[in-house]
Parts: sequence; structure tokens; C-alpha cells
Amino acid sequence: MTTGGNSKLWGGRFSESTSSLMESFSESVSFDRRLYRQDIAGSQAHARMLEKVGVLGAADAKAIIEGLDAIRTEIDEGRFEWKTELEDVHMNIESELTRRIGEAGKRLHTGRSRNDQVATDVRLYVRESIDDLLIVIDRLAAALLDLAEREADTVMPGFTHLQVAQPVTFGHHMLAWREQMLRDRARLVDARRRVNVLPLGSAALAGTVYPIDREFVAQQLGFDSVTENSLDAVSDRDFAIEFCACASLLMVHLSRWSEELILWSTPMFGFVNLPDRFCTGSSIMPQKKNPDVPELVRGKTGRVLGDLHALLVLMKGQPLAYNRDNQEDKEPLFDAIDTVFACLRIYAELVPSITVQRERCRAAAAAGYSTATDLADYLVKKGLPFRDAHHAVGSAVARAVEKACELSDLTLEELREFSALVEEDVYAHITLQGSLAARNHIGATSPVQVRAAIARARKRQG
Ligand code: ARG
Repeated sequence: MTTGGNSKLWGGRFSESTSSLMESFSESVSFDRRLYRQDIAGSQAHARMLEKVGVLGAADAKAIIEGLDAIRTEIDEGRFEWKTELEDVHMNIESELTRRIGEAGKRLHTGRSRNDQVATDVRLYVRESIDDLLIVIDRLAAALLDLAEREADTVMPGFTHLQVAQPVTFGHHMLAWREQMLRDRARLVDARRRVNVLPLGSAALAGTVYPIDREFVAQQLGFDSVTENSLDAVSDRDFAIEFCACASLLMVHLSRWSEELILWSTPMFGFVNLPDRFCTGSSIMPQKKNPDVPELVRGKTGRVLGDLHALLVLMKGQPLAYNRDNQEDKEPLFDAIDTVFACLRIYAELVPSITVQRERCRAAAAAGYSTATDLADYLVKKGLPFRDAHHAVGSAVARAVEKACELSDLTLEELREFSALVEEDVYAHITLQGSLAARNHIGATSPVQVRAAIARARKRQG
């Protein structure tokens, strides 16, 4: 096969064989074998196209397509022997094809390069991953909607600065999480449009001399369009970076939820109970029940943010066009995909089985002077300027703190010391229920509005 001393697919101009140290340093098959289905689909589409434009005979095209089908089955079944010395997934499959079908296999690489081949494989892989992620995001969003409905009337403290601020409903809090997830979903859908563009046909960097039909390939592989510039198409991985950016934001959201669940499940808060089957115990402290799922999700968020960072730095120094650096895109990308998928999947299972300790939530809201703003708003309605009302209520809170009681435990006379505008009807405003019910407009926390938001969401879902 070679006159020189190197039997690689590209070894013609080499006078010595590759060092084994170099082989293990530069191989990617140990991780890019994951792309085999995409690689085979891309090769089959390419072969069909070459046949269509008359570059490949019908018999050769048929042999290639069938040969690749057989190889895919073998890989599916774990019977394929991957070889490090063949470097990557592309050359492993092509070599095996040629071993099986001879001459025809050697014609497959006509008019393409591994540079446009790998860019195509990765785009297909990211597209399919997005589609898988959307399914589990939808499951999670539906679980949040159900939980919100179950807890539409449950009052809990809303926090700012992690200090008790105003009463909210647990359902409202769950709908807040869901909004975050829906934006993450929309970002992925939008990123998918930029992923779903076919680079094949760019060849190494400049295009090819063959009369290729790129639209035909795009259509077979389900791409929306073909890339406009070959240099750009083989070199940029911004679509993968964008995916990781979407995944990072999504993980930041999951991490924030995790932080809340970890707090809420401590005995001090006691707002929620996480199901035993998703918790672990301590090997030394018998009383412990640890919220491992949210802790791990919070921890794994760091990985995905790291994956994004790795890809950004990988790209920043690269001149056009393809550089081997890009081989390093796969591990962070796959890691981000696996991690975000695993976290979403476990949350989709966990969320429906969260039990809310309604009494604890209510007690915490009642204990934190969370209706102080309602008292101020009450005074404003009676004609006091808001700043004066704020001050008067501040003094009333100080009195309640001093007496170690709730605002609504102060007598009418005591309250009137702070403002003569206070009347008997004040108590209806400063109860938790009164406070919630008063926030009755779109986007606000009253049970009525939470139910309306859920109804709108269900209607949109169809
Ligand atoms: N394994 C390579 C990668 O992932 C495939 C492309 C190699 N191209 C090349 N000219 N060596 O980027």
C-alpha cells in the first residue's frame, strides 16, 4: 500500500511509522466513537449524493451503504473492534468498510475531508442531543406545573436577601422555577437552528472539485440548509459553544433550585421532605438524611460551566481554518450533554415526589413579619403617604419584636399608637391569607392568579 514506511490511510508521504507515543497522544477514537451513528449516516448520505451526481457507480454506492449498515449493527451490538492506531471514529469505520467491500470503500472519501466530516458528525450529534433534552425538559416543566397546582394555596415566606420578605404561595415559587426552565428550553430551540446547518461539502477547507449536490445531502440528513463558507464551516465550533452556554444557564437554574431544596429540607426550615429513595444517610451519624440529588446537581453545575469555558478557550487562539485543536471539543461537549441530561432526568423524577410541609411553611411566613408591607399599603389606602406609612409600620414591627409576638398579635390600641388611621378592618389585611389574596394581578402570587397561570400554561400545552 505504501512505498514509504507508514501504513496509515494518510501515510503515503511518510518515511517512518508513527511513534506509539504519538498514536496514544493523538487518538480520539476512545471518545469520538460515540459519533459512529452520525458518522455512518453522514457517509451514507455522501455516497448517495456521489452516485446521484455520477461520481460513484451504483454498485459501489450500494456496497458502501450496505457495508456501513452492517458495521453500524456490529457497533450497536458491541462486536466492533476499535483500533487506536486508526486514530479516530472516521478512519476506524472507513478502514473496516474497505476491508469488507474492497475498492468501493476506498472511493467513499471522494470529495470530502475528515474536517467537514467531523463538523457534520458533531452537528448531528448536538442536534439529536437537543431533541432528547427537550423531551426531558418538557417532563420536568409538566411536573412543576402539577406541583404548583397541588400547592396553589400553600403559603410560605418569600425571601429577599434570604430574609423573610412577603408571603407567597408555594405554587407561585414552583411556577418561577418553571419560567426559568421554559427560557432554557427556548434558548436550546433557538440554538438548534444554528446547529442544523450542513458543513459537508466544505472538504478540507476550500470546497471540492467534484460536482457535489450539498442540498441533496442536507435534505437526507435533515439539515435546514448548507453552510455558506467552507473555511468557516470546517473551523468554527461556535454551535457547540452556544449549546454549552445554553446548558450552563440551564444548570445555573438547576443549581439555584438545588440550593433552595437543600435549605428547605433542613430541619431548621423543614419546608419540604425529599423522598428517601433520592437521599442517602451518613455512615456515622444515624439521624442524617442528606439531600444528595440537589447537592450533586449543584456540584455538577461547576462541570458544565467548566465545559463551556474549555470550549471558549479552545477556540480563542485558532486561525482559520481547521486545526487539530478542535479534536479537544468532544470531551467537554459530551460531558456537558451527559451531565445536563442526567440532572434533568433525576429532577423530573424527584419533583413529583417532593412533599411540602404546609404547616411549617405557614408558620415560617407568619413568624417573619411578612405582612408588614401590607400594613403599610393599608395605611396608604387610608391616605397616608407611603414613606410615612413605611416608617409607622417599621415602629410597629419594632414593638412586635420587643414583645416577641406577631404584627397581628398587637392590639388595635397598640397599632393605633403608630397611626391613628388604623381601624378594626386592619386585621383582614395583615393576615397571610389577606396578604396573598390582595396580590391579584397577572404575574402575582395570589392563589387565584397561580391557578390562572396554570390554566394558561395548560392551554398553551394543548
Ligand atoms: N479526530 C479529528 C477531530 O476530531 C478529525 C478531523 C481530523 N482532521 C485532520 N486533518 N487531522 O477533529
